[in-house]
Amino acid sequence: MEDFYIIFVYLSLSLQVKKYLKPFLLSQEKLQEISARLKKNMIQGLGKHTHHKAPVKMLPTFVRATPDGTEKGDFLALDLGGTNFRVLYVRVMEEEQKVLKMDSQICAIPQDIMRGTGEQLFDHIAACLADFLDSQNLKGQTLPLGFTFSFPCEQIEIDKSILIHWTKGFSCSEVEGKDVVKLLRDAIHRRADYDIGSVAMVNDTVGTMMSCGYKDQSCEIGMIIGTGTNACYMEEMKNVKRVEGEDGRMCINTEWGGFGDDGSLEDIQTQFDVVVDKTSINPGIHIFEKMISGMYLGEIVRLLLVKLTEDKLLFKGKTSEALLTPGRFETRFISEIEEQDRGLKNCQNILTELGLKWDSVDVRLVRLVCDTVSIRSAHLCAAALATIVNRIRENRGLDYLKTTVGVDGTVYRKHPNFSDKLQAMVHRLAPNCSITFLVSEDGSGKGAAMVTAVAHLVLLTLNCKLTQDQSM
Ligand code: GLC
Repeated sequence: MEDFYIIFVYLSLSLQVKKYLKPFLLSQEKLQEISARLKKNMIQGLGKHTHHKAPVKMLPTFVRATPDGTEKGDFLALDLGGTNFRVLYVRVMEEEQKVLKMDSQICAIPQDIMRGTGEQLFDHIAACLADFLDSQNLKGQTLPLGFTFSFPCEQIEIDKSILIHWTKGFSCSEVEGKDVVKLLRDAIHRRADYDIGSVAMVNDTVGTMMSCGYKDQSCEIGMIIGTGTNACYMEEMKNVKRVEGEDGRMCINTEWGGFGDDGSLEDIQTQFDVVVDKTSINPGIHIFEKMISGMYLGEIVRLLLVKLTEDKLLFKGKTSEALLTPGRFETRFISEIEEQDRGLKNCQNILTELGLKWDSVDVRLVRLVCDTVSIRSAHLCAAALATIVNRIRENRGLDYLKTTVGVDGTVYRKHPNFSDKLQAMVHRLAPNCSITFLVSEDGSGKGAAMVTAVAHLVLLTLNCKLTQDQSM
């Protein structure tokens, strides 16, 4: 009897809650339309005279080959892109087609360094690297180094890479517009107690594609859905108008997170997305990312819950201090709440921790909110990925494309049904493509080493120059 009552109350309240959630539901037709818009933006980003203003930057990476399995050697890899910084010592072994992580170390990047000066940031990185080299007895060697730097960079050469702007909570001064490799080398030279060899700069998407490509040579797309979101893929050189040469392919870092920065996604941005953007440290930048990635999903849910409480549809209209605090509803809560078996129990614990007085209807409604926000994220990613696979298929004049995507990121890995939702929707939006999804094993670390290996063995054409119309 009680269950029946709960279901009844849930159904009647959820009808009202669904009115708030409606703007988050994107039909297949809408997603197709979004994909068509992204396609236009991608072409704009690749264009010689149009790329300056393009919101989707389509950055040439100078990676022209995916691994062929013959790379080998010892490398250092640095990985900066989230709240932690990692140093790795990696051995790439030809015989076993394996990338072995010999050892690694994590250093936290405290908030004051994330938002301090560039010099402080690079001194901190150089100090972590020094500690690691000491612990490995490697200070006397000058090993080649792969630097996974997961921010939008204009790559001039494989070892010259200029930060366009920070994303994901970083805002160190004096780095935007500068060569990140030089800033790293300068910091190391300031210490003067060790040196590094040749450097290859890589975005995490490229690292992911390369590390998966070592195992599966048909991997030609790398995708990240974690703190941020982005993808890279192998584009035909003849379409990369900013780089000289017509032959072969080059990996393009799309920086799809910037989709919408020209206002082109206003029709699907909800009032909650607008607040998330306005209150972020980089308003107007990476609008698409702010609707999708781990740095923002929790906050979208929190804002929805606050609104529903204010309008008396949740918690009998009573909020809590924690719920009213920006950032307090973490994205990992969404994954926990959506777990198949323990989801409702997890939800109860989370709401209690947030100081809320809930009943079983609240718990179900909160789960409905989480579901809606995470499905929209998965569907938007699906639309973007479909744009890429459809493009690769058309580029090659194929009726049917079989390809592999290397994927990484906490949202994709940890959320209980994100990957299923994403894959099902890509399948509908790109019906003439069969896609294998390969979750990368530490793409940022091992992938950086792969790129360094490939670069080192001169599979990369380092002498290819940007055409005159450069943006920086
Ligand atoms: C942000 C960065 C991008 C990175 C992505 C995933 O979108 O701008 O370079 O690949 O996050 O980490």
